[in-house]
Amino acid sequence: MARCSRGSLLLLAILILASNVPHTRASVKRGNKIKSATFLSPKFVLGPGSVENRFYHNIEFPKGHIGIKNFNAEVIDDAGNPVPLHETYLHHWLVVRYYQRLDVVENNHEQKFKEADRISAGNSGICQRGILNQYFGLGSETRKTATHIPDPYAIEIGNPAEIPAGYEERWLLNVHAIDTRGAEDRLGCTECRCDLYNITVSESGHPLRPDYKGGLFCCYDHTQCKVKQGFQGTRRSLYLRYTMEWVEWDRDIIPVKIFIFDVTDTGKRLNGSTGFGPENGCQIEYEIESCSSTDASVHGCIDVKRTSLTMPSAGYVIYGVAHQHTGGIGSTLYGKDGRVICSSLPNYGEGKEAGNEAGYIVGMSTCYPEPGSIQIAAGEKLVLESNYSRDQKHTGVMGLFYILVADQTPNPTSLLQAPIHMLENMKGSTYALAIIALFGLAIAVAVTVHSRLKKGREEGYRPILA
Ligand SMILES: *[C@@H]1O[C@H](CO)[C@@H](O)[C@H](O)[C@H]1NC(C)=O
Ligand SMILES: *[C@@H]1O[C@H](CO)[C@@H](O)[C@H](O)[C@H]1NC(C)=O
Ligand SMILES: *[C@@H]1O[C@H](CO)[C@@H](O)[C@H](O)[C@H]1NC(C)=O
Repeated sequence: MARCSRGSLLLLAILILASNVPHTRASVKRGNKIKSATFLSPKFVLGPGSVENRFYHNIEFPKGHIGIKNFNAEVIDDAGNPVPLHETYLHHWLVVRYYQRLDVVENNHEQKFKEADRISAGNSGICQRGILNQYFGLGSETRKTATHIPDPYAIEIGNPAEIPAGYEERWLLNVHAIDTRGAEDRLGCTECRCDLYNITVSESGHPLRPDYKGGLFCCYDHTQCKVKQGFQGTRRSLYLRYTMEWVEWDRDIIPVKIFIFDVTDTGKRLNGSTGFGPENGCQIEYEIESCSSTDASVHGCIDVKRTSLTMPSAGYVIYGVAHQHTGGIGSTLYGKDGRVICSSLPNYGEGKEAGNEAGYIVGMSTCYPEPGSIQIAAGEKLVLESNYSRDQKHTGVMGLFYILVADQTPNPTSLLQAPIHMLENMKGSTYALAIIALFGLAIAVAVTVHSRLKKGREEGYRPILA
């Protein structure tokens, strides 16, 4: 019985060989262990209706020349309990890389560093300078969106050859959270409707456009959304808890580039301008009008927004995911010939508990194409499409698409190098048998580890490979 099941496991392992080996190769072949750590952001304090939009420089981060394999986060309270979105709405969190000049008084407080002493080290584009240049980041969908990067790929960080002399690589965390306990209009508060915040001027004091109904300009740091009269709720301390997995860098890891596309991108790039504006690049947010009865019969009461984008460099898509807000019903990135590069659909919660909050997008589906199967050419014109329901109006919605792109696919011959090298000194008829046995054993282990890892992810704990 034991022999039989081991035999069928071996058979299964061999059958899976072709598709599964790249996935487990880095950890199995070289024992390049996946490391994992969990960090807490600085504390932020929210009372009913209040907003925090904070930027924390030099956050805790793994050090050295490494490859990031996974990045997850969630909001927790003082006791470490996950906080549901209907209490604290996580509008977004972003993690941005920068280089800090070191010869300026190092023992000064972080806040006293001048912007001039920092060099932004963003992703590979493609919005105007300074916009959507984060490495990692999600919103309400954080808890149920897969973020792992399959082997042999990783996001390379801490490469000494890339860090300018006299500088250190550091990371900025931006957390934007809205406390909607007791809110008069919970959705309105999460959509940053200006009337609910009684906001008519921007954070920098400029009057808002009269037709600006809602969005980030109305829910900046320390604004206050309308709460039901007489509602009592305590101010409480919260944290963004983030968990990362990584491996030490080695030359067999294939680095991936990060691209973020925005459905509001006009394609225009004003010279050197970093700001927003109807004329310049990515607007980040847009509005959805509710449909009239005639709209409903003609267009099915759906808002379809599309934009055309130019991919700056060639590569193979390794991962893709969209970002949408409540009302979103899916987003697709197409190639120039209309082929689907990735389609990402929202998963709405159905209950009350953290990770399953009714009415909120609690996860986005992701794409993990077979390596090499989805290729984008340099200069290729892509189309990004973001669909929303028009059953009701929405302000400040988003239509972003995040993809990871590799320059190359794994070299298939490298898979054979390890066992062949080990067997070089063996002779005769045992050779072939030994190869099969070793392969079988390695793959059986790989499959077991892989399925444990997968099971662990589904159950929501962070596995650590011993
Ligand atoms: C709204 O803001 C204006 C000034 O900005 C203030 O005079 C008014 O009292 C505020 N209304 C409420 C309901 O807070
Ligand atoms: C863009 O800005 C640079 C530097 O400020 C300047 O040298 C260049 O002439 C500008 N180009 C245009 C088209 O305005
Ligand atoms: C978006 O809507 C268009 C037009 O109805 C449809 O062709 C497309 O499949 C939709 N995409 C998603 C991801 O829902």
